Amino acid sequence: MRTQVAIVGAGPAGLLLSHLLHRQGIDSVVVERRSREYVEQRVRAGVLEQSTVDLLREIGLADRLDREGLPHHGIALLFDGVAHRIPMSDLTGGRAITVYGQQHVVRDLTEARLATGGQVYFEADDVTVLDVTSSTPRVRFTVEGRSTELECDIVAGCDGFHGVTRGLLPASARFLEREYPFGWLGILAAAPPVDDELIYAYHERGFALASLRSPTISRLYLQVDPTEDLAEWPDQRIWDELGTRIGHDGRSVNEGPILEKSIVPMRSFVCEPMRHGRLFLAGDAAHIVPPTGAKGLNLAVHDVHVLAAALSHWYATGSETGLDEYSTTCLNRVWRVQHFSWWMTSMLHRFPQHDAFQQQLQRAQLEYVVSSPAAATSLAENYVGLPWS
Ligand code: FAD
Ligand code: PHB
Repeated sequence: MRTQVAIVGAGPAGLLLSHLLHRQGIDSVVVERRSREYVEQRVRAGVLEQSTVDLLREIGLADRLDREGLPHHGIALLFDGVAHRIPMSDLTGGRAITVYGQQHVVRDLTEARLATGGQVYFEADDVTVLDVTSSTPRVRFTVEGRSTELECDIVAGCDGFHGVTRGLLPASARFLEREYPFGWLGILAAAPPVDDELIYAYHERGFALASLRSPTISRLYLQVDPTEDLAEWPDQRIWDELGTRIGHDGRSVNEGPILEKSIVPMRSFVCEPMRHGRLFLAGDAAHIVPPTGAKGLNLAVHDVHVLAAALSHWYATGSETGLDEYSTTCLNRVWRVQHFSWWMTSMLHRFPQHDAFQQQLQRAQLEYVVSSPAAATSLAENYVGLPWS
């Protein structure tokens, strides 16, 4: 089998890249380890930046997003029992975020790709990438017991943080990492949201976040110990803790059946460079941010937007300039977003080693952000996403 671009991973990065390439007349094949059902049901991100939404609209993939997505023009920071609204759109010349579940993005992208004749191999075992420093790399995999070899010009490693492609980077690559001493317990529940905007809560018992997916579905998170066992968190304990951390001003957390629950660790991670020979990494395969800034999926979208443009230029002209600049262009944005995500995480969480002095510093920072228009604008600009250059 032969294609121009072999894409490992059918998450948002891989599927969107395949779609962008198709629009430029470039052929690709996507190879995914999991089943289609699994990928389309994995509950994760919810917040899409303005530029992500603009791109999906531009390429005709926003019909359902425009119907079901919820545009948000502000968020609240809740501390010491008082919620302070950051009017994001007012502070950013009208830019906004849209709340739309990642599994819906993945479903829309998969449907669109298959409808336009795209080749996506789900449930591919033993995915192995070979010869990335040659001009004919190959991807080997097994589907339904049949072993296949895919020859290509380029391999895109879109296989997430636990994928295989990052392992092909040479010893000279740098991996920069920070682990946080906490994780997030997340739930999806059939219950009306606390509010129609997101609430980020700083509380002495730990951070909590009230988000949503629709007027009847809540998405809620609690800061927990990273080694916490989910079995220790029966539903009522979760609701009680959410009520304590997020309830304020006579406003309580609405309870309902919990549809999904999981615990994720929190880390920041970057690999530099994001390229080795004919292998290009994109999305979580190359970088991870703690979810407090709601940025991981949005960064993945930016990466593949840059990569698709560089590949299209290369195929059209033979010029490697865009490909050579890929890593630097992406890493510029990655580090801006890393800083923002680290800053939001540090401001809003309880750190086990923090004493009263450091907690007062966090409060002082929160007070500043909600009272200074300049500080609030900085948060708003980063949260809705700085425009792509
Ligand atoms: P993934 O979504 O991880 O996709 C990688 C794909 O590769 C997967 O389907 C995987 O099965 C496949 N794969 C792995 N290994 C192999 C292999 N060996 N062979 C073949 N296929 C393989 N981001 C935001 O922008 N906004 C948010 O609000 C937000 N909230 C979040 C909340 C939580 C709780 C979490 C955990 C994350 C959140 N994120 C958010 C981050 C976002 O979910 C990720 O950044 C995003 O999924 C990255 O997309 P990706 O395509 O790079 O990787
Ligand atoms: C979500 O809705 O899943 C969500 C919202 C904001 C975040 C992270 C996740 O910062």
